[in-house]
Amino acid sequence: MSEMLAKEVPAGGRHLPGPEDAVPVLVVDDLVVEHRNRTTGEVFRAVDGVSLSIAAGESVAIVGESGSGKTTLAMAATGLGARGEGDIRLLGHSLSSIGRRQLRELRPEVQVVFQDPHGSLDPRQSVRSGFAELRGLQRERTSWIDDTGLLERVRLAPEILDRYPHQLSGGQAQRVCIARALLMRPRLIVADEPTSGLDVSVQADVLKLLEEIRSTTGAALLMISHDLAVVRSVCDSVHVMFRGKVVEAGPCESVFLDPQEDYTRELLAAMPGARWRARR
Ligand SMILES: Nc1ncnc2c1ncn2[C@@H]1O[C@H](COP(=O)(O)OP(=O)(O)O)[C@@H](O)[C@H]1O
Ligand SMILES: [Mg+2]
Repeated sequence: MSEMLAKEVPAGGRHLPGPEDAVPVLVVDDLVVEHRNRTTGEVFRAVDGVSLSIAAGESVAIVGESGSGKTTLAMAATGLGARGEGDIRLLGHSLSSIGRRQLRELRPEVQVVFQDPHGSLDPRQSVRSGFAELRGLQRERTSWIDDTGLLERVRLAPEILDRYPHQLSGGQAQRVCIARALLMRPRLIVADEPTSGLDVSVQADVLKLLEEIRSTTGAALLMISHDLAVVRSVCDSVHVMFRGKVVEAGPCESVFLDPQEDYTRELLAAMPGARWRARR
């Protein structure tokens, strides 16, 4: 599969539409993921019967207060965390029925950008050697662009290549993380609170960058955030999570302007500096 994809991708890193674009990038069907409470030892459902589907090039948001199960859902859905029960199909492949080799081939198709960019980078590795390591792991997949071109795509100057993580600002470090994700030419980018650890002044730029990457590469974007303003500016549709369940889902415009659930209304009302008001 990886060889096939490598041939399809021209220098710009954009996926040419192929038959696989008709298949959703990710389908989650009735997912349940349990955790054990570390203090009480009780098992509880951190994700409780969630279904969602993301098409190629689509941007989908998951919102909800801290602890509502957003990260657990995203990690299980992408095969990176506790698997749980329910069917997950990544590019048409059911994660419960594919072998290890196939899973290894699928892995680079999903790239995750985490909240804490410095925590995601190896402190002993310069940006350049970090890129080199990734290139060594996935030669064909990463050959579409050189390091300078890659940095340009995330609006960083070439001199960043020789810096170590501690020499980068939060915004620069997050751009490096986005560049590392982009290098793999993923079909799905999962961004888990990608700006909540950053200065307010750079948050909007980083979001704009993610949105630009989505629109220029055709990768789908799963954006996790508790910031509704972020979601509204970037995403097509939104799933509102509360205690492990999706309580409301739909296009951003309708969910934000005409929420059907009390929880969504509360979430909107709690939003600082809301530029819109939901109808009641
Ligand atoms: N590995 C884990 N073990 C036990 N409990 C966990 C684990 N990860 C998350 N939780 C708990 O599961 C719930 C959902 O967490 P999480 O998915 O991180 O929510 P969110 O990303 O929305 O803040 C929380 O109550 C959290 O404390
Ligand atoms: Mg989280």
